Amino acid sequence: EKGGHDYFMLKEIEEQPEALANTLRGHFDHGRIVLDEQRIADQDLRDVDKVFVVACGTAYHSGLIAKYAIEHWTRLPVEVELASEFRYRDPVLDRDTLVVAISQSGETADTLEAVRHARGQKARVLAICNTNGAQIPRESDAVLYTHAGPEVGVAATKTFTSQIAANYLVGLALAQARGTKYPDEVAREFAELEAMPAAVQKALSTVDHVRKLGREMADSKAVLFLGRHVGFPVALEGALKLKELAYMHAEGFAAGELKHGPIALIESGLPVVVVMPSPKGRGVLHAKLVSNISEIQARGARTIVIAEEGDDTVRPFADELVEVPAVPTLLQPLVSSVPLQVLAAEIARTRGYDVDKPRNLAKSVTVE
Ligand code: M6R
Repeated sequence: EKGGHDYFMLKEIEEQPEALANTLRGHFDHGRIVLDEQRIADQDLRDVDKVFVVACGTAYHSGLIAKYAIEHWTRLPVEVELASEFRYRDPVLDRDTLVVAISQSGETADTLEAVRHARGQKARVLAICNTNGAQIPRESDAVLYTHAGPEVGVAATKTFTSQIAANYLVGLALAQARGTKYPDEVAREFAELEAMPAAVQKALSTVDHVRKLGREMADSKAVLFLGRHVGFPVALEGALKLKELAYMHAEGFAAGELKHGPIALIESGLPVVVVMPSPKGRGVLHAKLVSNISEIQARGARTIVIAEEGDDTVRPFADELVEVPAVPTLLQPLVSSVPLQVLAAEIARTRGYDVDKPRNLAKSVTVE
């Protein structure tokens, strides 16, 4: 059943190219992005003046990533919020607000209540969900199914990358409705998304190397994750995976925050995983991260660097270099997340834990 793998999670990590292809399939037709169950009229989509993304855990991290793309493509302000926080304050919502509720299971209590609250305030709600007919899509105005297939491992992997792709479809649909992107630009962005299953397949060639790193890191007391721009939520997700599976203290930081506190944590031998941006797409950020890495390395940290293949400038500062394929900046999380998933799973396995069923956790959190 596990397809010859030690644990389901590894099988599901390897299914990501197929899952992504399934998420995208059928959503570009006659030169236009089409969503699934679209009960929001085109005119209402055009009138949207603010977007909220609400979700929990890994789904929340996919929303943090989506913010970069949606704001860039649509010029709409996007707020990403934990569903458990959103509904206990008084968010400014009205009929021109689009609330995107992301949930793999479609049953998460906090996300469901956030949907109810938003609809009560007349906001339009679009659900991104992996489970047909679940409660959250049933109570939303529109649904975009991720079609990633069933996920057995409690840790979200293929549904996470599928959620990113689905969010990007929402961003493109909004850009198309608002006219902030010309049809040929929307077509080009979609074509870049369609190239991602092949890129993720290439990223999977890092699995053996990363598993070896995981075995070496299994005795560490803590691991830090650093990133910038879309690499920042990738770092947060890498840390969540490690906490959840390996019961190890792990924290993700925006690399620019290092000097504002976290650098004090750096000590000899501490593993620090760094998610590098492309040297081409965001040259300035790349140079800043190289400088961050040299600083933490000088303080004795063991640097594990996830970088674009051929990125030679970072090589001297990487104690371990994991190369992922070059892809457009906004799509990097789809490839850079892969080694972080494998790392967490392998550290957990080496420590003797059940990778598919971590302690204290349920696949679907239907109570608050
Ligand atoms: O089913 P949902 O996407 O609503 O679940 C949200 C979180 O509970 C979930 O992503 C959780 O954080 C995962 N176990 C992380 O791997």
